[in-house]
Amino acid sequence: MGRMEGKTVIVTGAGRGIGRAIADAMLTEGANVCFGDLSADVGDVAAAATERTGGAASGTAIGVQVDVTQRDQVKAMIDEVVGRFGSLDVKFNNAGVNKPMNFLDVTEENWDFIMRINGLGVLIGSQEAARQMIAQGHGGKIVNTCSIASRQGFDNVAPYCASKFAVLSLTQSAARDLAKHKITVNGFAPGVVNTELWRQLDEDLMEIGASQKPGQAMEEFSSGILMGRPATPDDIVGTAMFLASGASDYMTGQCIMIDGGMILV
Ligand SMILES: NC(=O)c1ccc[n+]([C@@H]2O[C@H](COP(=O)([O-])OP(=O)(O)OC[C@H]3O[C@@H](n4cnc5c(N)ncnc54)[C@H](O)[C@@H]3O)[C@@H](O)[C@H]2O)c1
Repeated sequence: MGRMEGKTVIVTGAGRGIGRAIADAMLTEGANVCFGDLSADVGDVAAAATERTGGAASGTAIGVQVDVTQRDQVKAMIDEVVGRFGSLDVKFNNAGVNKPMNFLDVTEENWDFIMRINGLGVLIGSQEAARQMIAQGHGGKIVNTCSIASRQGFDNVAPYCASKFAVLSLTQSAARDLAKHKITVNGFAPGVVNTELWRQLDEDLMEIGASQKPGQAMEEFSSGILMGRPATPDDIVGTAMFLASGASDYMTGQCIMIDGGMILV
């Protein structure tokens, strides 16, 4: 029997990258999984999940196009999931974006774009998931994607760091408020993960003059990783699974670093 058998899980930002790897793993462990993403392709991503998991998937996957900054869309996604599977047990608030700018060049537009998705998106996602879990009356789990940028401010990505500090503080505030409903709220904090986000970041950092050639920024940023390499999305899955499963039931308001040893706190 899979570790997530009988559970219903929503993962946002599941169209690709870390979110997709987590959603695939939940599916393999027996959960019914909603792949939520801004991308119109998310239905196809969910449909292909059984194939991607090598036929090992024992849950059911659906894809829902959603903008995590739009409360009505988030509510509609949760309603669709509960209508289909009967409950919501675990919500991953994982969708996130970055767009580097040199510190003195950061604009209001850059700030708003990043803070809305990474910060407000997690607030709305937590609130609406919690409302559903409270109505169900048997608790639940909210898992937020933090970052090494939740623990340290880096240059060229100031709004991103501010937004990921916000994700960490929202994790703590929600944990304090929701414990009485037996809802735990935790986060995990990746370091450098080889996904489209970093591919784009590498390109953008060259554009603003922070690096000179493809791969340089990622290589330099990864040079201090004690494990000697950047992560793949699969490296993140075990920690995400732990936080979604009963194994972490007596844990709330925490953020687990899963960065190969970059930020030692
Ligand atoms: N890649 C890394 O090195 C790294 C490190 C630390 C934390 N993170 C965090 O992990 C999470 C996933 O990152 P990733 O590397 O897989 O990124 P990614 O760019 O590969 O995937 C992000 C997904 O989020 C979706 N998305 C963007 N805006 C959205 C919105 N408004 N509503 C719904 N979906 C939206 C995108 O369509 C995309 O499918 C993010 O929160 C990111 O900040 C990534």
